Amino acid sequence: MDQDTSPGIPNGWFAVGWSTDVKHGEVKRIRYFEEELVLFRTRSGKARVLSAYCPHLGAHLGEGGRVSGESVRCPFHGWEFDGESGGCSSIPYCERIPAKARVRPWEVEERNGMIFVWHHAEQKPPDWEVPEVTQLSDPDWSEPRTFEIEVPVHMQDMAENNLDPVHFQVVHTMLEVPETKVSYGEDKRFMQAVSYSEQETPFGTFQMELLRDTWGIGLSSVESRGIPGAGLYMFSSTSPIDRHHTISRWALTMTRNLVDTAGEEWLAGMTKGIYDDMRIWTNKIHRADPVLCEADKLLGEFRRWTKQFYSERA
Ligand code: FES
Ligand SMILES: [Fe+2]
Repeated sequence: MDQDTSPGIPNGWFAVGWSTDVKHGEVKRIRYFEEELVLFRTRSGKARVLSAYCPHLGAHLGEGGRVSGESVRCPFHGWEFDGESGGCSSIPYCERIPAKARVRPWEVEERNGMIFVWHHAEQKPPDWEVPEVTQLSDPDWSEPRTFEIEVPVHMQDMAENNLDPVHFQVVHTMLEVPETKVSYGEDKRFMQAVSYSEQETPFGTFQMELLRDTWGIGLSSVESRGIPGAGLYMFSSTSPIDRHHTISRWALTMTRNLVDTAGEEWLAGMTKGIYDDMRIWTNKIHRADPVLCEADKLLGEFRRWTKQFYSERA
């Protein structure tokens, strides 16, 4: 059997749910980054994430825990933990709170209709921000259609897809292997790839520009330009559950002038595309040292770029 050479869990911002997943006062058990976590929305409306196991006798805060103001209350003996600091805010049957009564708080950002958590293998603070994508809230764009898939694969393999021009032709039946140009943002954590190709769309065949933005290793967007007077856009966040399981969430939108014409066909086409990838992902192994050919330059470049998101010990 092939040795498991999957990399560890990368550092960055990763979605752990949609904003609509937790209403005020709701508590959810979640698992990401090989960690048991509890996600809840406080009475003031803040989404919070804490490590799940109570420091008292180890109950899981996400299994029967409930919101109490800005804290979550343990289901076992009722100790409460503040969502922001993770510190114990109350023990219902004791005045003095032990100094060690705390759980690990995780940095949370809510944006683009998703709840993001910062993961860093060495627990360093965030050094870049979750981008705000305007298309998802712009009134000229349609209400986003969302979906998510869980795939038994390391997230690196899913992230690489976007910078793999050859597969666009082989898997996604594009007419030609698109010519792709890559550029990087100032802080090097942002990367943009642009491809130009003739593409069949539900609206006709056009000379299209495909813009792929990537923030860190897990956040990306794809914008199609070239259909006169119209735009297609999707934003996705790919998050590691563990080294072998990944969740990818997608929000797709288009300019309103397309919605009632060929909009559904486009959505169906994109969804099918993702399912075509899924068969490959679900059944592949991770190659830490892939044999690349001369024309795979972009793939190699992407691998090198993503190295910055892994800590040594990851
Ligand atoms: S185990 Fe959480 S309060 Fe006792
Ligand atoms: Fe793909």
